[in-house]
Amino acid sequence: MLPKRNLHFIGVDFGTEYKDALLTAINTIKGNKKCFILIEGVLFFLDREETDNLFDFFNIVQNKGDIIGSASFQDELKKSLAFKRLLLFFGEKVAKTKASDYQTIQDEFYQSRANYSLMDHQEYFSLSKTYNHKIRLQKELILNEHFYLLLKTKF
Ligand SMILES: C[S@@+](CC[C@H](N)C(=O)[O-])C[C@H]1O[C@@H](n2cnc3c(N)ncnc32)[C@H](O)[C@@H]1O
Repeated sequence: MLPKRNLHFIGVDFGTEYKDALLTAINTIKGNKKCFILIEGVLFFLDREETDNLFDFFNIVQNKGDIIGSASFQDELKKSLAFKRLLLFFGEKVAKTKASDYQTIQDEFYQSRANYSLMDHQEYFSLSKTYNHKIRLQKELILNEHFYLLLKTKF
């Protein structure tokens, strides 16, 4: 179980000019403490420019030794039946969209972040092995999310 924490919620739209206000808010809360950033399920909805900006922002927030945990999907996701079904579901329940509206990210994005080194890369199938999770669905029906840990190695 996680220890009790004070949680602060700061709503931000990464498509706007958010950096100055968000940095001030984070610095007030974080001070000089160590910092782990987790981003899960969001990059799929951003474009590459917003994503580059966001990771540049993480670099400003973090110090050497801090870590980013990031989850995203790779290009081959879009060939899967699971993704085709997701598009249909969004089309029926949310809004009509096309495959190119959703961002996928290859390993090179994480391997080439200035000041960071890639510590670990896992995905649904490798973690299922690690945690002894029995996969019951066909591979085609799984949205295979990839998980990356980036260590900030330079100031
Ligand atoms: C599938 S949910 C993932 C939720 C996430 N795992 C969490 O625990 O908050 C997708 C999230 O992406 C966020 N999102 C999408 N576009 C965004 C944007 N331009 N700026 C900020 N957040 C965005 C949505 O608000 C939503 O909370």
